[in-house]
Amino acid sequence: MPPGVSLSITAPTSGSAISPGLGLALVGCGSAMPSTSLSNSDLSRRVETSDDWIRSRTGIGARRVAGADESLTVLASRAARTALDHAGWNPADVDLILLATSSPDDLFGTAPRIQAALGATGAVAFDLTAACSGFLFALITAGQYVASGAVRRALVIGADQLSRWVDWDDRRTCVLFGDGAAAVAVQACPAEESGLLGFRMRSDGSRHACLTLAQTEGREPLLDGISAQKGGFAPIQMNGQEVYKFAVREVPQILADLLEHTNTQAGQLDWLLLHQANQRILDAVAERFAMAPERVLSNLAHYGNTSAATIPLMLDEAVRDGRVRPGHLLASSGFGAGLSWGAALLRWSGPRR
Ligand code: UT7
Repeated sequence: MPPGVSLSITAPTSGSAISPGLGLALVGCGSAMPSTSLSNSDLSRRVETSDDWIRSRTGIGARRVAGADESLTVLASRAARTALDHAGWNPADVDLILLATSSPDDLFGTAPRIQAALGATGAVAFDLTAACSGFLFALITAGQYVASGAVRRALVIGADQLSRWVDWDDRRTCVLFGDGAAAVAVQACPAEESGLLGFRMRSDGSRHACLTLAQTEGREPLLDGISAQKGGFAPIQMNGQEVYKFAVREVPQILADLLEHTNTQAGQLDWLLLHQANQRILDAVAERFAMAPERVLSNLAHYGNTSAATIPLMLDEAVRDGRVRPGHLLASSGFGAGLSWGAALLRWSGPRR
């Protein structure tokens, strides 16, 4: 086993789901984006870069930047409410709210603020941090609560506001990231109807230095010989080439493993739904599975890398414009800081009304 810790559960696509009794149906989605868009040309007025460089190296054309009245709580609550409405639920129906984020409004937890904003008084709400793998890890986590029978309905949110943590003078990182929020509503269903058909999760902390948003070193002197660390984080640092190599090596591998263990052929997939970090990564993964480019979902051109939000944001867009339809099979993979990566085989159910 290579370095890192692995966790996986799989079930054949033909029938049984992650637990003998209960499955997880994906029944609603929603997203909320900041209103301000920053184009590549806009950025080239701030750092030495160009639309041509950014597009050709990443596929990104623009990204959204949250305004003063668009906090993570505001955007994530809007996305969650839309998912709730799409699913046809009342706020009181929700048992669990999981917020995947690396940029919370409050380090003690932002999910409870979303619970309050929604009026989901019966829901337990907490944050989960796994960077760009966060949404997939949260969805899989919600799946365990549902499979155990502890939770019937959950909102899984991916939201990030990395604009507050990038160094806007560092052209190697500031061109990549954007802000956004999206959510998926999931509910218990009979095992044979499950929309979570198998998953893989991996972590390798020995490579954490490749991509960090790390605590700063400063200390506050208190008394003679006693000091306390000052809170604060340094801007995002990334070794882009190392993260790129990691992604094009590990993502195809974990997806191949997932497909093998779920007895699924790449040709059976309707869509590849990958974390949106770089179009070249999407293309490399698609090529490995001989997936036609039109089967690979991409919205990098409009939003860049919104970290934990990319996968539900892409799903929401494709559901709303009719590309992803009830019954469609999607292979999804998230990857990023940690290092962390994961994959899940999903079937979109759509609202059950
Ligand atoms: O969500 C987490 C996962 N993150 C990722 O998956 C990111 C993975 N990494 C990547 O996507 C790519 O490595 C980047 C897009 C970040 C960089 O692309 P690259 O092809 O690896 O470029 P590079 O870092 O090798 O840089 C090539 C050149 C350098 O100039 P020199 O040293 O060759 O003269 C950079 O200084 O491009 C320069 N450069 C830029 N030039 C114009 C770096 N950033 C920029 C920029 N504009 N924004």
